[in-house]
Amino acid sequence: MSSRSDGVFYLTTPIYYINAPPHLGHAYTTIVADTMARYHRLAGDDVWFLTGTDEHGDKIAQAAAKAGETPQALADRISSAFKVEWQALGIENNDFIRTTEPRHARVVQAILQDLFDRGEIYFGKYGGQYCYGCERFYTEKEIVDGKCPDHQTPLVYIEEENYFFRMSAYQEWLRRYLEKHPDVVQPDRYRNELLGFLREPLQDLSISRPKSRLQWGIPLPFDDRFVTYVWFDALLNYVSALGGLGDARFRRYWPHVHHLIGKDILKPHGIYWPCMLKAAGLLREEESDDTGLPGFARLRVNGYWTIGGAKMSKSVGNVVEALALTRKYGNDAFRYFVLREMPFGQDASFSEEAFVERLNADLANDLGNLVSRATTLIAAHAAKAPAGNVLTQDPDLEAAFRKAREAIEVAMAEFACHRALVGIWEFITAINQYVDSQQPWALAKKPDQTDRLIAVLGTLAEALRCLGLLLVPFVPEAAARIRVAVGDRTEATLAAADYGRPWRTPEDLLAVQRLTGLFPRVDTKGPAATAEPAKAGPAAGAVPRITIDEFKRLDLRVAEVLAAEPVPKSKKLLKLTIRLGEETRTLVAGIAEHYRPEALVGRKVVVVANLEPATLMGVTSNGMVLAGSAGDTLALLALDRDLPSGAKVR
Ligand code: MSP
Repeated sequence: MSSRSDGVFYLTTPIYYINAPPHLGHAYTTIVADTMARYHRLAGDDVWFLTGTDEHGDKIAQAAAKAGETPQALADRISSAFKVEWQALGIENNDFIRTTEPRHARVVQAILQDLFDRGEIYFGKYGGQYCYGCERFYTEKEIVDGKCPDHQTPLVYIEEENYFFRMSAYQEWLRRYLEKHPDVVQPDRYRNELLGFLREPLQDLSISRPKSRLQWGIPLPFDDRFVTYVWFDALLNYVSALGGLGDARFRRYWPHVHHLIGKDILKPHGIYWPCMLKAAGLLREEESDDTGLPGFARLRVNGYWTIGGAKMSKSVGNVVEALALTRKYGNDAFRYFVLREMPFGQDASFSEEAFVERLNADLANDLGNLVSRATTLIAAHAAKAPAGNVLTQDPDLEAAFRKAREAIEVAMAEFACHRALVGIWEFITAINQYVDSQQPWALAKKPDQTDRLIAVLGTLAEALRCLGLLLVPFVPEAAARIRVAVGDRTEATLAAADYGRPWRTPEDLLAVQRLTGLFPRVDTKGPAATAEPAKAGPAAGAVPRITIDEFKRLDLRVAEVLAAEPVPKSKKLLKLTIRLGEETRTLVAGIAEHYRPEALVGRKVVVVANLEPATLMGVTSNGMVLAGSAGDTLALLALDRDLPSGAKVR
């Protein structure tokens, strides 16, 4: 079942708890969301992509107490770790909401007050078995051996006076609603699961916690002895982040909302949330209800990653390492692996071996080799093109392309990124087969076959141009490199991926640059898998190896630039004053043509701290700043998260 976007697409991820730093599971949902958002942007839709952090409640208060800090300090620290991680992963969200922000509390309180005024919320007493980990009461039916079925920890009986939302009143409505609109919850098995829950009587929902037990929450607007139950608070982020009911942004995006969630939080999103929205008048009931405001609150549910077959667990220590593989193999490879390996909605197992296998087979071999051999051939022979347009059509390739486009469209309507990738890879296989069957290297040896050669190269250039566009949502960095290599400087749009226009001129072909090492193959034969260096510069491979002990003789450190000024009479040199831990030093760097001095002040750089001093243009330099360069471009090494000056780099 597809979900129409009508040119506007509002996509949310769960807001993540800040009791632990981001891991593979959070990253997966966020990457799927980012891919969907990029796909819809490519299709020309107006996209709003929201993520954020869930910062109130017992769980957080307890984690803060354990860490010996205030809940706010914990929230600030971990929330910024999520932001930094998403930046490092290249996630392009439009907004990041934190539930401790005033913009959120304002909307939560307004909705609570409205529901209270309309009798949807009442004061009452409830006693039951409570799990602090889940922050909810469990019914007798759900309890397994007296324990929480999720955490396997003993439940605690608590009885207290609280405010309740009349959720039971919506049971019958919700059942009919889910039955009538299969598209509301997908994949289907999760809708069935919800219908299963609804076969049991639905209880009213306790939406408050007494301040005597928990202070860390949003105060109820109508009784300040209570704070709001964390789920009632958290779910409303999807509304508050759009500015609340009266806001223009809310009016624009809300009717098109899609919530991407993991299967662990199906019940709050599939039961509490639609009932809350229905009570608040924010949920559409009929397809034909075209008032433009309430949305369907569609749920798209992903499965769960296990690591090497085991449940992800902080105590096993496998949680952090999976995400660290982005540093080892790059964001695109990581994105590709998680998107391709997990059929959307089902569980999958994560292992470095499986990752490296796909990296080598699909990315290095199929995609990387294709790009490398095609661009190499074009760059070598483009100059032979005669005047006039270059033919870029081949019926088989064109058919393969159309099939891929269709597969992508159907798959992406279902959030099934894995199937979209299968479709793209079939196109890659078809292009590879085209190269094999046409043998352009053989044509290049026969002067009477030049026209044919150029037609083959033109066809390849056009196929790669389209491939570069199709790959944008999935492997954005590689896609950008392919597009640059084929000389495509236009804005990336799905509409431009229209294989088969005989538009290439000889100049177009001459603009194609050789692109090798897009995804370097990982050597799996050694004791530890290591990525081969990308063969980018001429020196790679010609440099002698060093031992780890030789490397350790370098004292590499993080340093903060305190001041920067030009070295008199020098075009290239800047004099930098840096802080290295407790010490202040002067050093000279040949970066004046690439950086303005004032842009460097306050930056953290990496320096070789134990270099023999040297005097350059009259200034003594006590160390060296590290930078990379390629052609005319020079880039200083930067940290992807903050470290104190003086920190060791290894
Ligand atoms: N704060 C709540 C959500 C509130 S939304 C209004 C929460 N946070 S969480 O930090 O526990 O994140 C849960 C989400 O992280 C899951 O729904 C899922 O999207 C993602 N994942 C966490 N572990 C995961 C796996 N092992 N595998 C796949 N996704 C996982 O629940």
